[in-house]
Amino acid sequence: MNSLPDDLNVLSLKQKPDFVQTPCVQSLTERALCYLQAGYPVHFSGPAGTGKTTLAMHVAAQLGRPVLLIHGDDEFGSSDLIGGQLGYRSTRVVDNFIHSVMKTEENVSKTWVDHRLTNACKYGFSVIYDEFNRSRPEANNVLLGVLEERLLELPTGRKSESYLQVHPAFRAIFTSNPEEYAGVHKTQDALMDRMITITIGQYDRETEVQITAAKSGLELDESARIVDVVRAFRELAVLPLAPTVRACIMIGKVIALRGGSASCEDPIFLETCRDVLRIDGIKISRDGIPAGDTWLNEVVAEHCPPWSGRFPRQSTNGRLLPTNGQVAIAR
Ligand SMILES: Nc1ncnc2c1ncn2[C@@H]1O[C@H](COP(=O)(O)OP(=O)(O)OP(=O)(O)O)[C@@H](O)[C@H]1O
Ligand SMILES: [Mg+2]
Repeated sequence: MNSLPDDLNVLSLKQKPDFVQTPCVQSLTERALCYLQAGYPVHFSGPAGTGKTTLAMHVAAQLGRPVLLIHGDDEFGSSDLIGGQLGYRSTRVVDNFIHSVMKTEENVSKTWVDHRLTNACKYGFSVIYDEFNRSRPEANNVLLGVLEERLLELPTGRKSESYLQVHPAFRAIFTSNPEEYAGVHKTQDALMDRMITITIGQYDRETEVQITAAKSGLELDESARIVDVVRAFRELAVLPLAPTVRACIMIGKVIALRGGSASCEDPIFLETCRDVLRIDGIKISRDGIPAGDTWLNEVVAEHCPPWSGRFPRQSTNGRLLPTNGQVAIAR
């Protein structure tokens, strides 16, 4: 194997301890791994906050190869993926043969620098191309040959090679948001035709509860209450943005930090839900009263009845945190 350039930012991904694997997540992982093993690129497509990037990282970690991460960008040209004449090499000749006369000659020439796609193809790494449809379609054209003929076409200027044979271990995982999202481009059909797309929607309740618990440190019972509130608002479809599992994690983390609890009697909880869910964004009112607050109170009353006991709390280092009253910061 060729030696790796020193400045190559390669990720060595390991499974994260707070990564949640419910049957739903396992099934998605297995399908993706199976397609990748068969030699096909995998594409996770779905709305914001559905876990696409996290899943892509998890699947890439399972492949056991070094990973190069690329984020789609509207400013990208193909050289941002493959490389270009970017570096400068300077050579200086000092001629002081006759010591009374000093002659210097300086030559500055551009040199080719390989970028992530070229390096991944060369060394057989996995590539995660996150939100690839934020890049303009013409920037991604270079992928067509890589994914089908397993040949990376290189412009003249990169040494003498005009094609690079893609290493057999090279694998590609893509993620994208739907086309109606701001800043997202329509993907060319030829590229979509070369990858297997797995459509991801919001996770099932069990997965969302487990993710909320894993990320916030709350117990499952309390996490379930938060998830039910968020899912109720998702179903009501009255918020400007459908809330995702990110909202569940935010509410969970904030109430854990502030010593609140997921109960309709807890002002900290109500206030946090109000802010995170952006209840103010609901521009409907009934008899001059904003409908958002009424809905929030109703939904919270239904899913978070008064809680007589105390929700146990664990800080990350195992110390119990207070559940009510003062702000508790885990150190
Ligand atoms: N299986 C999982 N285990 C633990 N946490 C998860 C899991 N899936 C998603 N999450 C968490 O849910 C949140 C949203 O996930 P992620 O960022 O992967 O979504 P996304 O679909 O890539 O969103 P976007 O389209 O906005 O980039 C993150 O905080 C992530 O850590
Ligand atoms: Mg993402």
